[in-house]
Amino acid sequence: MIAVSSAQGVIARYRSYLPVGESTPVITLREGDTPLLRLRNIEKHIGCESELYAKYEGLNPTGSFKDRGMTMAVSKAVEEGASAVLCASTGNTSASAAAYAARANLKCAVILPDGAIALGKLAQALLHGAVVLPVSTNFDGAMNIVRTISARYKITLVNSINPYRLAGQKTAAFEVCDLLGDAPDLHVLPVGNAGNITAYWMGYKEYQFAARSTRLPKMFGFQAEGAAPIVNGAPVEKPETIATAIRIGNPASWQSAVKARDESGGEIRAVSDAAILESYRMLARMEGIFAEPASAASLAGTLQLHADKYLQRGMRVVLTLTGHGLKDPGTALKVVPEPKPFKADVDEIADFLNLKKLDARN
Ligand code: F0G
Repeated sequence: MIAVSSAQGVIARYRSYLPVGESTPVITLREGDTPLLRLRNIEKHIGCESELYAKYEGLNPTGSFKDRGMTMAVSKAVEEGASAVLCASTGNTSASAAAYAARANLKCAVILPDGAIALGKLAQALLHGAVVLPVSTNFDGAMNIVRTISARYKITLVNSINPYRLAGQKTAAFEVCDLLGDAPDLHVLPVGNAGNITAYWMGYKEYQFAARSTRLPKMFGFQAEGAAPIVNGAPVEKPETIATAIRIGNPASWQSAVKARDESGGEIRAVSDAAILESYRMLARMEGIFAEPASAASLAGTLQLHADKYLQRGMRVVLTLTGHGLKDPGTALKVVPEPKPFKADVDEIADFLNLKKLDARN
């Protein structure tokens, strides 16, 4: 075979930890192997003596962590002879399902809450050829629809209640351990449908069991204040947050997220939309990392832990940044001043930029 990329994809890389066999076709876009970036500027700015690392999952093929799970779910769907896949989504799952289904020559249908999906994600699902059904309901309503359809009709559900999805997503925890040499002290991530926190915890436990790491992190999940069912201890009927990816009122993996929290000695807390947007700007301006608003809940949560004096000197804290900022250009443009058109005049522009003239001899 001709090597076309040094990246292997998560199935090839972590095969022995995944439910795949000789006959499983590997449908991959070379997902995974995302960077762990030290957030030194933010550490310095807030006076944090812990080491903060961002696991930048926006660099996956479709721009979110969902690709790790989708390579597994779609590969297994093909192995099992499926001809079509189905999901409900706040956007990223549908983009990923559409791309992997296209690669596998499967049909893909996605049920989306009408009007509540970031533009980039909608564009992805459509361009990859998925049948996109915007329904006048929220994500939780869309989940109920796809559960019922997949129970009654021949179509494979690729939401994270499909166990292969979480099996693929746990590989992010393996990568963190491989990159740091062991598990971190804390792992911080946004919580929406609660699959990812469940998957990371599974991954950390399996890696420790396999003696690839020696310890386990405390899991800290953050929900948006207006969509915080796990924090409140009750479903939220009308979840609201600027972070549309985690606008979820009744997470499918609620119980397993609570288990991850409790077994690890961590917490699931809420952050405000204002804190999410502040962190969104900080990541972009101070670290050069364009993550989507939901991802910034990880930093907002970390800042909250820092303010509560939870972060000690020398602790290693990993923040998952779940999706790329380019998915949602609309929100970016809402939080910055609009640039004013300028005259095409060299001197006026130089003047405006406060530039000093070069020495005439140079
Ligand atoms: N961050 C982003 C960017 C997401 O897209 C999601 C979930 C989450 C965080 C939360 O992860 O659901 O595993 O707790 N997006 C799903 C979707 C719901 O349909 O794309 P979770």
